[in-house]
Amino acid sequence: MKDNNIETYYDKCIEFMEQIKNPILKECCQIIYKDFKEKLINKPATTGSHHFFKGGLLYHIYCVTRNAIAICNLYPDLEIDLDLVIFGGLLHDIGKTNDFYDFIENSDNVKNKGNSAVLLGHSYEGVHIVENYLSNYNIDDQFKNQVIHTIGSHMNEYSEWGALVMPKMLEVIVINFADNIDSHIEPAHPIIKQANKGEVYKINNAPREYYKSLNPFYNLQR
Ligand SMILES: [Fe+2]
Ligand SMILES: [Fe+2]
Repeated sequence: MKDNNIETYYDKCIEFMEQIKNPILKECCQIIYKDFKEKLINKPATTGSHHFFKGGLLYHIYCVTRNAIAICNLYPDLEIDLDLVIFGGLLHDIGKTNDFYDFIENSDNVKNKGNSAVLLGHSYEGVHIVENYLSNYNIDDQFKNQVIHTIGSHMNEYSEWGALVMPKMLEVIVINFADNIDSHIEPAHPIIKQANKGEVYKINNAPREYYKSLNPFYNLQR
């Protein structure tokens, strides 16, 4: 992903929103994206573990939503609510918009320690943002809790940066795994071409090391 086409991914996220059938969720998501556009297209997704580049936050959000929709399509009989999956996918990390400085090349000026997400965590901050926007609509209270649950539980673990509560809906389980796939695979992109077969390599503070296959046949054309 190159910096100069991040706007393309913003447009693709807007296209995902078009698939949301519930008019309140669709409009709420559209307004949040309008209000947070500058932050989404300028911030990294993390301080180095994945998507550490300008617009990395938005690109990661696009990939997670894309992955989540694909997972739902693999399980058509489960009646997973695609509205919640798309809404939750597009907004799962919206709390990070208050977490970091905008990405500046060759700078370590990334963490914004004074902002609320640093003090409260991006799951809480995301819940806070989405709940504020949803308060403008006449929406069933329990359903609103389900919508917010997709943000607050998406990390699927209790930790410093983790979930407020464990996932209790299939929609969040899908979002969590879609998120995990993307955050573990993306860091390999810049280095995978140069890495030698059989060589262990580590990328920034990515969550794990990678070890390239020794199979002499694996990269032959299929
Ligand atoms: Fe997250
Ligand atoms: Fe994420």
